[in-house]
Amino acid sequence: MADVFMHTYHRLPVTFVKGEGAWLTDVPGKRYLDFTAGIAVNCLGHGYPALVKAITEQAARFNHVCNYYQSDVSVAFAERLVAACAGMRKVFLGNSGAEANEGACKIARKYSLKKYGPGRHRIVTLKGSFHGRTITTLSATGQEKFHRDFGPFTEGFLFVPPRDVAALDRALDPSSVAGLLIEAIQGESGILPQEQAYIDAAARFCAERDILLMFDEVQCGVGRTGTFLACEAYGIQPDVVTLAKGLSGGVPVGAVLAGEKAADVFETGDHGSTFGGNPLAAAAGLVVLQTVNNPLFLKEIVLKGEKIQTALTSWNHPAIKDVRGRGLMIGVDITTEAWSMLEAALAKGLLILSAGPNTLRFLPPYTITDAEIDQGLGILKGVLDSP
Ligand SMILES: Cc1ncc(COP(=O)(O)O)c(C=O)c1O
Repeated sequence: MADVFMHTYHRLPVTFVKGEGAWLTDVPGKRYLDFTAGIAVNCLGHGYPALVKAITEQAARFNHVCNYYQSDVSVAFAERLVAACAGMRKVFLGNSGAEANEGACKIARKYSLKKYGPGRHRIVTLKGSFHGRTITTLSATGQEKFHRDFGPFTEGFLFVPPRDVAALDRALDPSSVAGLLIEAIQGESGILPQEQAYIDAAARFCAERDILLMFDEVQCGVGRTGTFLACEAYGIQPDVVTLAKGLSGGVPVGAVLAGEKAADVFETGDHGSTFGGNPLAAAAGLVVLQTVNNPLFLKEIVLKGEKIQTALTSWNHPAIKDVRGRGLMIGVDITTEAWSMLEAALAKGLLILSAGPNTLRFLPPYTITDAEIDQGLGILKGVLDSP
């Protein structure tokens, strides 16, 4: 492996040179079936023709204009994105999930400050959550292991255990809390969907106490679970939504969207980002929105996800303890160490992810075919049979 990068990642021993659909090819020419989509990023697979066309055509027109001006493509992308997210009125475009969540935290704090004055700045998040790697989004992340070595952290975050409505009720104190930031399905900590009753209670508490209900849909949004936003499945209306990863199909992007309550919180000079709304990302994002935000396409995601979950469950495999998730966001608890399964699958030509020490995570591209799903599951079964 190249020794030029800072040692932040535990990388598997492979270097890719080419991608096509749900396949990646390494330097010697071996092909791998991709059940990762770059951790929910390449939602249309590799080399999706309309995406390639949009990016290359935009690159030939112009890559970037600064935020003193607008570009036609960024306006079209933003309008389409706001329309795709029910109840949202305005968007701020950035470059990553962490940046989108930073924006959400700033919106919650300013919303509260403007309306209630100082002291009501806390943001409640869940234990096991993951919201990003900047100092503030690490502060928002409810996992102890991320709170080592980098302090002091941003003040004002409070963690509650998931699935505990009484604890949430206590934590959402309207005299000190500005917002609740929550993943509809906790991704990094094991593909853990929130319970309906919990989300119902969260929505009720937030509405009654004028606390912003903010969904971090960085991993589970953009159709991943079979609805454009994962929170749609709960039938509630968030005040703020953050998106990134799959939104531009592989070009860096992030978005924080706000509905009626918070759409006009940011005023001139409050926030900014040099690359935010970049025309290349916007051109790619338009293709993703045109393709994914379509009932037939979303239905396919649901069917493909059901196919995977049904197959995994039907094996009754002694190494599998639980299968869960929604759409093409699937977690599988196994009896052995997940990382060694990733290595074994890689050797057999299948790319999969982990989410915690004993959970495999599948986030395949939405464009994966049924035959490719069967092929990937066949490899996985072989790995589980004899790792
Ligand atoms: C739910 C969630 N929020 C935020 C992030 C951070 O996104 P990024 O790495 O683009 O900053 C991630 C990344 O995995 C995520 O899964």
